[in-house]
Amino acid sequence: MSELIQQKIEELSKKIEEHNYNYYVLSNPTISDFEFDKLLEELIKLEKEHPEFLKTDSPSQRVGGQVTKEFKTVKHKYPMLSLGNTYNEEELRDFDERIRKSGLTHYEYVCELKYDGVSISLTYINGKLSQAVTRGDGEKGDDVTTNVKTISSIPLTLRGDNFPKEFEIRGEIFMPKKEFLRINENIHKQLMEEGYGEEEIYEKQLKNPRNATSGTLKQLDSKAVAQRKLDCYLYSVLGEDLPFASHFESLETAKKWGLKVSGDMEKFSSLEGVIGYLKKWDKKRHTLNVETDGVVIKVNAYEHQRFLGFTAKSPRWAIAYKYKAAQVSTILEDISYQVGRTGAITPVANLKPVLLAGTTVKRASLHNADIIEKLDVRIGDTVFVEKGGEIIPKIIGVDLTKRNSGNGSTLFEENAHQTKYITHCPECGTELIRAEGEANHYCPNELGCPPQVKGKMEHFVSRKAMDIDSLGSETIAQLYDAGLIKTIADIYDLKKEDLLKIERMAEKSANNLLEGIEASEKVPFERVMFAIGIRHIGETTAKKLAFYFKNIDAIKNASVEQLLEVGDIGEKTANTIIAYFADNRCIEIIERLKGAGLQFELSEQQLVNSSDKLKDLTFVVSGVFTRFNRDDLKKTIEQNGGKNVGSISGKTSYVVAGENMGPEKLKKAEKLGVKIISENDFIKMLE
Ligand code: IVH
Repeated sequence: MSELIQQKIEELSKKIEEHNYNYYVLSNPTISDFEFDKLLEELIKLEKEHPEFLKTDSPSQRVGGQVTKEFKTVKHKYPMLSLGNTYNEEELRDFDERIRKSGLTHYEYVCELKYDGVSISLTYINGKLSQAVTRGDGEKGDDVTTNVKTISSIPLTLRGDNFPKEFEIRGEIFMPKKEFLRINENIHKQLMEEGYGEEEIYEKQLKNPRNATSGTLKQLDSKAVAQRKLDCYLYSVLGEDLPFASHFESLETAKKWGLKVSGDMEKFSSLEGVIGYLKKWDKKRHTLNVETDGVVIKVNAYEHQRFLGFTAKSPRWAIAYKYKAAQVSTILEDISYQVGRTGAITPVANLKPVLLAGTTVKRASLHNADIIEKLDVRIGDTVFVEKGGEIIPKIIGVDLTKRNSGNGSTLFEENAHQTKYITHCPECGTELIRAEGEANHYCPNELGCPPQVKGKMEHFVSRKAMDIDSLGSETIAQLYDAGLIKTIADIYDLKKEDLLKIERMAEKSANNLLEGIEASEKVPFERVMFAIGIRHIGETTAKKLAFYFKNIDAIKNASVEQLLEVGDIGEKTANTIIAYFADNRCIEIIERLKGAGLQFELSEQQLVNSSDKLKDLTFVVSGVFTRFNRDDLKKTIEQNGGKNVGSISGKTSYVVAGENMGPEKLKKAEKLGVKIISENDFIKMLE
């Protein structure tokens, strides 16, 4: 009986793997998905009833289920190198020239597409997949065997019997474009049902197939991996005493063992053939279900590869050719305007969703009014979108041949009109301003425009300001939307019963928050100066103002001339300070914060330690000190009107050198003639 069951399990396994091969490797299924699922279900049932017959290479392993705690780090038997890059024909000719100059005369090239995924090294021992390791740093990678076993196109057992006892085969695991779109559609559908907005959904969707692949492979639960249908192309065989003489032959043979090798590789006996291949695939590659970013060109014969050898990082016998940034055209459906935390307006193009270099693009930046005018983009236009290195794609032009011509868009009549830039803030309705010489429009309603007010609050509670970390941006938004905080001063009037009205706010977090707020009352004056968020006043300027004027009333009453005295404060900054204190609403906020107990003057101790003895001097602090720790030394410099910078330049006044100062810094200071002083010299300067 049990022998019969074991036999049945073996038969079923074999049958299922055969269908897997037909479907995933040959793309030629011979049964329906339904029939396939039935077979698999039957196998899983039998294995559950008779776990003694469950084998590690059973196709049931492909549905996942095993959970890993942490991936084991494994050293690669052969390091995983990278490739040199070329970006044009000339650079490619240089590569060919180098090969000819090495003395080789008759050699062939193999061209393959460069798949954009995650590279993997598979080890097969006695025809069974024994290990799958990621590239890692090239020397060591993560053992992701359990996850890789869920990839249906990777055979768990090889076909035939004439493969080497042990070898590695490397390739690229990727998420097919269609799978990427399918997953994102599902996320969209589900989150819509849960009431999320488009913006939030976009944030939660997969960004591009490559990220999605690497994220999926890192999942600890292999079931989660099995649910996302990854695929893999293999492109390089490694091992001792391999039974072939060339790369092309190795891949042709690997195919016969059931391994998935792309059918798009080709062999050429001249560089001209290679260039033809590049041209052929430039456009055609976009029609594939896998993301590609170039072509890999390899010298074919192993003997030639051995002759050419390697540089420290990459083989001399292979090179990558990278295609230029991808471009696509789509319809501009609408232009919306976002108001940033500083009040800056950013026009955003809302596009008819389109796949560009593997990412679904729905939005592109339009930068500012000048760019819109220059490109003359109009709603309803067909626009060209390009993705360079940056994450946000940009619109690079308009397809004028499609303007007003019924480009398939129901919006096409609109593109008869030039785009009019908005004149009023979309958030608060205030008329926008545009300072002379500046590209961006601003909403001047700093104290009343919702995103600006929330932004100010986020700045106020941030680590370098009041450091109220229990008050995150989400809570700020909730409190603001509930009308509980309208300005930063309201934070100190919050009561527990108010907080408990907020969704998801429990007793414990309310207490935490109130404690955090109370603790912030002790934050020293210079940080309060930074926290209140006067335009152009960064951390350093806030410190300077605090140590120079010593209390807020002195700053409030200072004239432009006095402010300019501080050093490093220019006319523009001085004027914003004056404008800030001329605004009664700001004064009211300050008075209320004072009433709440915030520090608006230097402490006794700070007063004793502060002076303007180091005014206009710039210091670089380097090494280890005995009387100060480094941070205290830097603080002392600031409290006495000096400025700390990170690296030595001609403008540096002094280098305060401690023990173990880096020799490079020493050399640089000497070369630039910057004075080097000891800790004791520094202390004398303050006496
Ligand atoms: S051969 C010695 N062939 O590109 C390196 N690599 O920059 C041998 N890649 O890490 C690599 N498609 O992840 C090779 N057909 C292909 C490839 C390919 C994609 C990736 C691979 C490698 C990187 C090289």
